[in-house]
Amino acid sequence: MPLRKEQPAFANNVKTKTNSTMNSLQVWTLLLSATAAAICLAGCASPSKWPGSVTKAPFGNAPDGTPVDIYTLRNAKGCEVRICNYGGIVVSLKVPDKSGKPGDVVLGYDNLDGYIKSSPYFGCLVGRYGNRIAKGKFTLNGKEYTLAVNNGPNSLHGGIKGFDKVVWTAKPLVGPLGPALGLGYVSKDGEEGYPGNLSVKAIYTWTDDNELHLDYTAATDKDTVVNLTHHSYFNLRGHGDNLGHVVQINADKFIPVDSTLIPTGELRPVKGTPFDFRTAMPIGARVNAKDEQIKFGGGYDHCWVINKQAGEFARHAVVYEPETGRVMEVWSTEPGLQFYGGNFLDGTITGKGGWTYQFRNGFCMEPQHFPDSPNQANFPSVVLKPGQIYKNTIVYKFSVR
Ligand code: BGC
Repeated sequence: MPLRKEQPAFANNVKTKTNSTMNSLQVWTLLLSATAAAICLAGCASPSKWPGSVTKAPFGNAPDGTPVDIYTLRNAKGCEVRICNYGGIVVSLKVPDKSGKPGDVVLGYDNLDGYIKSSPYFGCLVGRYGNRIAKGKFTLNGKEYTLAVNNGPNSLHGGIKGFDKVVWTAKPLVGPLGPALGLGYVSKDGEEGYPGNLSVKAIYTWTDDNELHLDYTAATDKDTVVNLTHHSYFNLRGHGDNLGHVVQINADKFIPVDSTLIPTGELRPVKGTPFDFRTAMPIGARVNAKDEQIKFGGGYDHCWVINKQAGEFARHAVVYEPETGRVMEVWSTEPGLQFYGGNFLDGTITGKGGWTYQFRNGFCMEPQHFPDSPNQANFPSVVLKPGQIYKNTIVYKFSVR
């Protein structure tokens, strides 16, 4: 069980403060107080007693010239996570294998240019809406909104310039659980077609137990839709295909999609399908099964409906890699888990250390609300209103077996 404070359970991940309209200063004040409840700013914990550290180094410039930094979060075990404030990207995450040898378990690039030129969302923060919105359209309060369409007929991961392609303000923090990095971004009213000024805080904490925590909070000044997640491509062997990774997902149902990966609206029992990961199964065991859903996804690229109460912080999945003994648990307050098996990787990307990323060489575990929720009346709501605080906690916990 990850070392963290329990989150209060609340419907749809949204906590209401007032119903009144707020100005942007009020929005920030609300966000700051919500954030402070979970994380103390530097000084809360005595730095002299803290064996972990956060160091900062230049990492290049964003396309508009804004300087970007890379932050190294080192915990008391000496394990390191490196995160840059362009897209909040986790650039490397080094954890030991069963013999104690540390290795990087995320895909990506050695330098910022790689991420800027062409990235299939390596390691980033995803928003304002993680996953797809059908035809880039939704209706809220009787008004139709049109989003940037960037994935076939649909809008994916926030549009053409999502939260993965912006420079976030960054502040090294010392949280009660370990070294942390606080990131902030204000998405303007109308950005990528979404209504409302949305103020977002994302805090990464790297604990002494090798848990990477991501705590999101957000507030808006107009009704809007929000679905934030994280997009690291993991490979617990470091490199090579992901087929031997053994996956267990705590879900009795998954969400079938159409050929453009938009949910049909059904929540289908996993029993008797290649989507049944209630008992641990290697990814490769059924990834090529003759099954319409496998065909649509090119393998696994679906959202599982996690067995839990709304807002409850619960374990979504466990992934075990037998060669290295590495284990990754995924925990979250979110209702769904998008498990994407790297089916669009095709060997055209050369990443860190000159490695080429071939078909299914990484996998993403993205806790989130269900895809296309703004157009699906029977899915949990993703609407955020002025006066409410959006909250979402995601934890990746690493160990060995
Ligand atoms: C989606 C995939 C998509 C990928 C982009 C994943 O979150 O599920 O369908 O291709 O992101 O890198």
